[in-house]
Amino acid sequence: MKGTKWLFFSPYWVSYAEIIKLAGGVPILIEGTLENNFKATAAQLEAAVTPKTKAVIYSSPCNPTGSVFSKTELEAIAEVVKKHPSMMVIADEIYELINFVGRNYSIASFPGMFERTITVNGFSKGYAMTGWRVGYICAPLEIAKACEKIQGQFTSGGTGIAQRAALAGISGDQGPSKAMAEAYLRRRNLVLDLIQDIPGIKTHIPEGAFYFFPDVSAFFGKSAHGYEVKTADDLCLYLLAIANVSLVTGEAFGAPSCIRLSYAASDEELVEAMKRIKKALGELA
Ligand SMILES: Cc1ncc(COP(=O)(O)O)c(C=O)c1O
Repeated sequence: MKGTKWLFFSPYWVSYAEIIKLAGGVPILIEGTLENNFKATAAQLEAAVTPKTKAVIYSSPCNPTGSVFSKTELEAIAEVVKKHPSMMVIADEIYELINFVGRNYSIASFPGMFERTITVNGFSKGYAMTGWRVGYICAPLEIAKACEKIQGQFTSGGTGIAQRAALAGISGDQGPSKAMAEAYLRRRNLVLDLIQDIPGIKTHIPEGAFYFFPDVSAFFGKSAHGYEVKTADDLCLYLLAIANVSLVTGEAFGAPSCIRLSYAASDEELVEAMKRIKKALGELA
C-alpha cells in the first residue's frame, strides 16, 4: 500500500484523500471542470496512469457536484482501466437511487470489469437512513474477505436492528424512495431557477444526488459588513455570519473556486435561504 498511487476524479467526496493517506497511499487528482460538468474524462485518466497506479476512485452520482457519468463515459473509462492489468476501480454508487437522468450504470457490469471493480454503496442516501450506518461493497471475493478482516476489528458489524431496517428498505415497496427522488428533482429545479437569478454565480445542472456546486470566484476580492472575501472558505463564513445560511467550501472537495449547496431541505427553507444568499452576495463590493 505504501507509496502506491490512487487516482481520483476531482471534485471528490472529502473522505477519499484522507482514507488513502491513512493507509499510506498517495492521492492524485484528476480535475473535472465546470465547463465539462465536473466530469474528468477517460483521456485525462489515461494520461495520469503510471505503473504505480493502484486504482481510480469516483462517485457517480457525485458528491459534491451531482454529476452522473453516462454509459458511454463509463465505457471509455473501463477501456483505459483494462489496458493496465493491475489497476482497479472503486466506484462509489451511494447516490444510485437519486438520479434524474434515468438508469444508473455500474462499471462493474461491463465486460471484463467485475474482477477489477469494488462497488461501494449504502442505505444512507437512497433510503434516507444516514444515522443507521449500513453500507456494503460488492467486490471480488479475496478483496471482500480482506475488507471483512479489517471491518471485523474496527466495528465488528452493523447492529441487527439496522440490518433489519436496511432489509425492509431494499426488499419492501420502493415507492417512498422514488417519491423522495422526485422531490429532490423538483427542488433541484427550484434552486436552479433561484441560483441562475444571482449575478456572479456560475453553475452546471446537476443530474443526481442533492447538491449544487457553483463557481463563486466572481466574489473573491470583494468585501462587506467588515468581511473580506478572498476564498471560498471566506465566502462560506461570510454567508454563515450575514445570511445565517450554512454552505460547504469547495476547498474541502478539491475545488477552491466553488461552494457546495445542499438542497436536502424543504421548499420553503430553500426559497428563504436562496433569498438571503442573493441579498448577502449583492452587498459584496
Ligand atoms: C459520495 C459519498 N460516499 C460515501 C458516503 C458515506 O456514506 P455513509 O453516511 O453511509 O457513511 C457519503 C456521505 O456523505 C458520500 O457522499
